[in-house]
Amino acid sequence: MANSVLDIKVTRTTNSKLAQVDWNNLPFGKVFSDHMLVMNYENGEWGTPEVVPFGHLQLHPATSAIHYGQSIFEGLKAYRTVDNDIAVFRPDMNAKRFKDSCLRMCMPELPEEVFLSCVDKIVAVDSDWIPYKGGYSLYIRPFMFAVDDYIGIKSSDTYKFMIFTCPVGAYYAEPLNVKIEEKYTRASTGGVGRAKTAGNYAASLYPAKLGKDAGFHQLVWTDGAEHKYIEESGTMNIMFVIDGVLVTPSEESDTILRGITKRSVVELANDWGMPVEERKVSVEEVITAIRNGSLTEVFGAGTAATIAQIQRLGFRDELFELSPIANREFSNKVYNHLDKIKTGQIEDKFNWVRKVK
Ligand code: PLP
Ligand code: COI
Repeated sequence: MANSVLDIKVTRTTNSKLAQVDWNNLPFGKVFSDHMLVMNYENGEWGTPEVVPFGHLQLHPATSAIHYGQSIFEGLKAYRTVDNDIAVFRPDMNAKRFKDSCLRMCMPELPEEVFLSCVDKIVAVDSDWIPYKGGYSLYIRPFMFAVDDYIGIKSSDTYKFMIFTCPVGAYYAEPLNVKIEEKYTRASTGGVGRAKTAGNYAASLYPAKLGKDAGFHQLVWTDGAEHKYIEESGTMNIMFVIDGVLVTPSEESDTILRGITKRSVVELANDWGMPVEERKVSVEEVITAIRNGSLTEVFGAGTAATIAQIQRLGFRDELFELSPIANREFSNKVYNHLDKIKTGQIEDKFNWVRKVK
């Protein structure tokens, strides 16, 4: 994948926090690199992006994103390869999804090549923050929010696009217990479930808290109309191996995030000749497959979550213990294969990796 860097002004910090990082203890999303990128939208156009020392923002109390939620984000990762190169995984897909989120949330489009150049730049400036340790990476968080100081309801005329980064390990430290949610809804047809917008996550917090109180790390959302079909989980898409077929809810519905990790897993499965079905997946089908032993693997797929094994599945008043993680041939293989592509241990034959200089 070609690499391009816009001419972006950089003001470096004089107070780096790098030496204070405890690389053996990196809680997800709590350690922030030294710089951030900022670009403003006003008078109908994007200004010039700038990299500045990481720090707080000063906002007007009427900042419209705070009140009405015109706010979108992305998540992607940079890896240090075995040759000490810097590799960002499929940022073109994030650029495209960001553009789609802009459209749905009535926000100004950010051209994909600008998104990519901004990612290149912030990663290059804070490249010392990319961990050297296996299983670790630099999480990149691009986001955009409305900044008009106006409390009428309308789409804002002004926006901020920003990126910061965090050195991270795995989002989940252990295999997950998840619960099939039948009362609350994450997203409905015609809504904003496909967009990576802040409110989707806010809406999930209360049901997720109830799930946590009952011992579940995450929920598995079902469709808003009938709660009959599996959609996705809180921070990841969900995938099953049933009768040797990789089965995952189709993205045709506009209620599911079009996950880049899931897409990569599907593309690898296709390449390996494994049958794949992207279609409606009913709760009943999954429960039946658990009961009759044809369901052999269940896992989540996401940038932060990577390939997150699901150990127990709660449904109504039952808790199903799923197959031992060590026996899960496909998902273990896919996890290792993706990790090797990202870290340059095997050939990137799909051209998924973007090298940053
Ligand atoms: N679904 C939701 C709700 C998410 O927040 C995420 C994470 O980004 C995903 C799915 C997985 O998407 P991706 O693999 O692109 O990170
Ligand atoms: C991601 O995987 O990038 C996500 O956005 C999930 C989560 C941290 C909200």
